[in-house]
Amino acid sequence: MCGIIGCVGRDDTVETLLNGLSNLEYRGYDSAGLAIGGGNLEVTKKQGELENLRAELDNNESSVSGTVGIGHTRWSTHGPPSDRNSHPHTDSDNRVSVVHNGIIENYQSIRDELTTEGITFTSDTDSEVVPHLIAGYLDDGLNPQAAFEKAVERIEGSYALAVIIEGTDAIFAVRNDSPLVVGAGDSAYFLGSDVPAFLDYTRDVVYLDNGEFAILRPDGWTISNQEGDNVTKNPKTVEWTAEQTGKSGYSHFMLKEINEQPTSLRQCISGRVDELKDAVVVEELDHLSHVDRVQFVACGTSYHAALYGAELLRDRDINSKAYLASEYATAPAPVTKATLVVGVTQSGETADTLSALREAQNRGAQTLALTNVVGSTAARECDHVLYIRAGPEIGVAATKTFSSQLVTLNLLVEHLARGRGRSTTNYELITALRNLPNQVQHVLDESNAQEVVDEYVGDNAFFFIGRGLNFPVALEGALKFKEITYEHAEGFAAGELKHGPLALVTANTPIFAVVTGDDERAQKTIGNIKEVEARDAPVVLITDGETEAERYADHVLEIPDSHQRVSPMLANVQLQLVAYHMADRFGRDIDKPRNLAKSVTVE
Ligand code: AGP
Ligand code: GLU
Repeated sequence: MCGIIGCVGRDDTVETLLNGLSNLEYRGYDSAGLAIGGGNLEVTKKQGELENLRAELDNNESSVSGTVGIGHTRWSTHGPPSDRNSHPHTDSDNRVSVVHNGIIENYQSIRDELTTEGITFTSDTDSEVVPHLIAGYLDDGLNPQAAFEKAVERIEGSYALAVIIEGTDAIFAVRNDSPLVVGAGDSAYFLGSDVPAFLDYTRDVVYLDNGEFAILRPDGWTISNQEGDNVTKNPKTVEWTAEQTGKSGYSHFMLKEINEQPTSLRQCISGRVDELKDAVVVEELDHLSHVDRVQFVACGTSYHAALYGAELLRDRDINSKAYLASEYATAPAPVTKATLVVGVTQSGETADTLSALREAQNRGAQTLALTNVVGSTAARECDHVLYIRAGPEIGVAATKTFSSQLVTLNLLVEHLARGRGRSTTNYELITALRNLPNQVQHVLDESNAQEVVDEYVGDNAFFFIGRGLNFPVALEGALKFKEITYEHAEGFAAGELKHGPLALVTANTPIFAVVTGDDERAQKTIGNIKEVEARDAPVVLITDGETEAERYADHVLEIPDSHQRVSPMLANVQLQLVAYHMADRFGRDIDKPRNLAKSVTVE
């Protein structure tokens, strides 16, 4: 999920790799390392800042050199940040060195198999199976390229891999659902998880597609597909400014992260749904003991995710409630041993949430951290942890982490429902979750949010309404909007408007109404839309088109048809774009809105 750099054909390989890694630092990471090859392999890696790696290299008695090398910034998904878990990983004889971004889903079965064969693993990562597999195929007599390709055949999941092998002055690479780009210099060739990794050396880039392999040698590079056929790809020249490079050409990290959601969502469900049994399989939850009630504690966007999760559980007849962590911490709800208190926190470091979790733990509840950051305080302190696997998020406004929280909550809920003897298969939901990344892509490609917000620049206030699972989405739409536009925005349960907020509604208060499906809630929300229409308020409808609601709307932001639990996630993407484009129109500091911090570590 984090950064890869590789280079072939330069004399200053170590400096080139370090420079590349420092250009990837913006992505966030918890450890860094590099391997230099050509002859023997020399690996140096360190937990923490790149400075630690530099210091380690400076201390190294043998001066590290060579004209081929790979480097990595790690953002842990399997095993906490530590020197031993840092990449590159090697086989037992130090013949193969590998850096990996992503998640290898079937690593445990491969690891078990290799352990039975007598191989000792030295890290907790999923990635370490790769060098051992390649080494095994080299032992079987395969050449380096064939050994690499055979190892790739064995693995499932998302991966960008770069590999160097003793005695070979080449880099072997492959991508599947994790980005990888070749940089075509004049006399040196580069590999990067993102263009900034090598932009100081070349602007000519070739993007790998899923399933494609690349080999970089001192005399050039080749790309081939899964069938082994060569693929001809001409380099494109990127014209980005230095400032744009870290954002892959997007004007803000927030927009980049909104657009990354198809990938982050794929990563989130990968390996966690059993397609044959149509069931959710979340190994991290196997050790939960009996749960008869769930309490969520969270803040801000994560609280909105918690409200969604609590509603899902109630729908499955499991007692549940979402609490604002800051309130829970000072006035905890009663718990027993069978109460599961779930801290929803992307950073895993939010002081209010940590304090609520500690309170719950002291009082005897089981605790679970639902977080994005491996090794975060919440992950370490809770009894259990479930990762949302969204990858690092730089923008202060949470976007891709919110959508991954919602998907992960579905997995948690299905797991708990099964434990309570509720139906074990949920074909429609599993199918909808699997289709979600493509449907999000469709929304991103087709959204007219930018044109719609242009109509409402200068209005007084912006209200967001929804019912049921669309209520947390309305709250989140309003939070995102106020956070980055600095305009007055509020989210309401659609039925509550008439109990007070309607007094604020005028022709200058656009209402963003989320209506999905065609159940009683949808019909009642249409009634609420008519109420605001009667007060001359413009209505922007976010809908899958299942009802006649469009008749009452001034503008429509369409979403594809999906499962009733999944549609709110698609509506949320439209609202992310609404907030983004309005803030952009005002020229706000979108990635770092005033007065806010990415991680709030004070109560
Ligand atoms: C979301 O856009 C905000 N930055 C904020 O509400 C955030 O969700 C909240 O501070 C909780 O953070 P956490 O998920 O890291 O605990
Ligand atoms: N899954 C790997 C690990 O936890 C790679 C993480 C990354 O992409 O940085 O080490």
